[in-house]
Amino acid sequence: MHNINTCILLVAVMALNISCADRPEVINRNYNELHRPQFHFSPAEKWTNDPNGLVYYEGEYHLFYQYYPDSTVWGPMHWGHAVSTDLIQWEHLPIALYPDSLGYIFSGSAVIDWNNTSGLGTASSPPMVAIYTYHDPVGAKAGRLDYQTQGIAYSTDKGRTWVKYEGNPVIANPGIPDFRDPKVSWHPAFDKWIMTLAVKDHVSFYSSDDLITWQFESDFGKELGAHGGVWECPDLFKMKVDDTGEEKYVLLVSINPGGPNGGSATQYFVGQFDGNTFQPDPAFLPQVTGTDSGGQARAVWIDHGKDNYAGVTFSDAPDGRHIFIGWMSNWQYANVVPTETWRNAMTLPRDLHLTKHNNSYILRSQPVPELVMLRKDTAISVINSREDLIPFGPDGLEADITFSEITDDCGVTLSNGKENITIGIDYSNGRLFVDRTNSGMSEFSSHFQGIHYAGIPDLDKPIKMHLFIDRSSLEVFLNDGETVMTEIFFPTANYDLLNVYAENESIKIQGKGHHLHSTWAQNNE
Ligand code: FRU
Repeated sequence: MHNINTCILLVAVMALNISCADRPEVINRNYNELHRPQFHFSPAEKWTNDPNGLVYYEGEYHLFYQYYPDSTVWGPMHWGHAVSTDLIQWEHLPIALYPDSLGYIFSGSAVIDWNNTSGLGTASSPPMVAIYTYHDPVGAKAGRLDYQTQGIAYSTDKGRTWVKYEGNPVIANPGIPDFRDPKVSWHPAFDKWIMTLAVKDHVSFYSSDDLITWQFESDFGKELGAHGGVWECPDLFKMKVDDTGEEKYVLLVSINPGGPNGGSATQYFVGQFDGNTFQPDPAFLPQVTGTDSGGQARAVWIDHGKDNYAGVTFSDAPDGRHIFIGWMSNWQYANVVPTETWRNAMTLPRDLHLTKHNNSYILRSQPVPELVMLRKDTAISVINSREDLIPFGPDGLEADITFSEITDDCGVTLSNGKENITIGIDYSNGRLFVDRTNSGMSEFSSHFQGIHYAGIPDLDKPIKMHLFIDRSSLEVFLNDGETVMTEIFFPTANYDLLNVYAENESIKIQGKGHHLHSTWAQNNE
């Protein structure tokens, strides 16, 4: 970084009362705490929320993330940074972006400017450009409305060092307090960059030829989807529909609060985008008749669990993949969950697929195939009776269980002898649930305990449950990711037993499982 930038940074850091003296460049520490994820990403220490700037470049997946290096509660936001060659093993790198005189560095995206449209790199060495929100805490405190603006920064050394663009901000605020989380991608069909921005109760699309000068295109969503809270962290991308070969645009929009089980969650819309406006398919428009709403907006969720928020996809992922990572928490309790040295983690990376179903589309989430490398053995053979008790260790478990000829309630329970969590099919109501009422520590928030639900369209067919269980989280992918629930938990001792249950003897159960390796084992030695 140039000296002048360092000076500006120091002044800004002093103004924001942030001490970074003596901070080691990269902190590596033991990953063996009671609730520490063993195969999910969590920062070595201190606070994290949203994944940011997901981008693939020269063999590396970059995960930037909202980070506060001075505390385990939310504060002046930085972009933390980690890289991986396989989406599974992450290497911590130094903090990429620090707050400056324009404000904290809120969420945003990163792209490779292959044609050097911005002029910030060279044709032979394209810049990596981060597009993020500046949140000016002074303006916010003074009661101004325009305290969130969009800025950019660039790196010409594979994301290792960053320079803030001297003309920041690149988009000024029109007088709306919630004006943030730019997600940018290059659209060859329109020959321009498109930015999707969350603006209070809708998204706004902007376009640009050079990532620096932005032109407003249109607004979307004021009267559509869920509106129980503020819209945040959108993403817009084009996908091929499985089997049919059609091409559709998918728009992800996180909302907080207003999720299906309370607090934070992510909804999606499927439709068309013409470079100017997003037009949702009829199934994503309000239903005039039907149980849902009687003409009200209706929402469709990427994940019904309480703990998958602010998720977005990687830019330039290889092989046309749409790889998604979310933040594995909920603003209802993220600041008070009972972890001491670190707070919060990311979901497993997931491949998104779009499937036609009746006259609509389902956005399916599937754990990435790279996760197979975590399997230790085929320790668990066939699960064929409801008495099966499967022991597992503190590094975690993956299980694939199929229930067929379902005529009553069935599911699995995880326990440590005194606390438990159940992932079950509530047959008579046609829904999947996660019951974490007795899952362990919960006194930190009245929003934590409870039973959370997701509707299952068709119980006449077998139900395939694909589970990933880490020390303080579970991810359940039902029927190839058509229905997903992500939930965290804090037992007083790690769960070590999985038990399959079925209320009716005629229900068939088949399955297998794998003990998993810890990806942080080297930190634990
Ligand atoms: C979502 C969010 C974003 C914002 C960031 C601040 O969780 O509220 O809208 O940019 O977190 O940390």
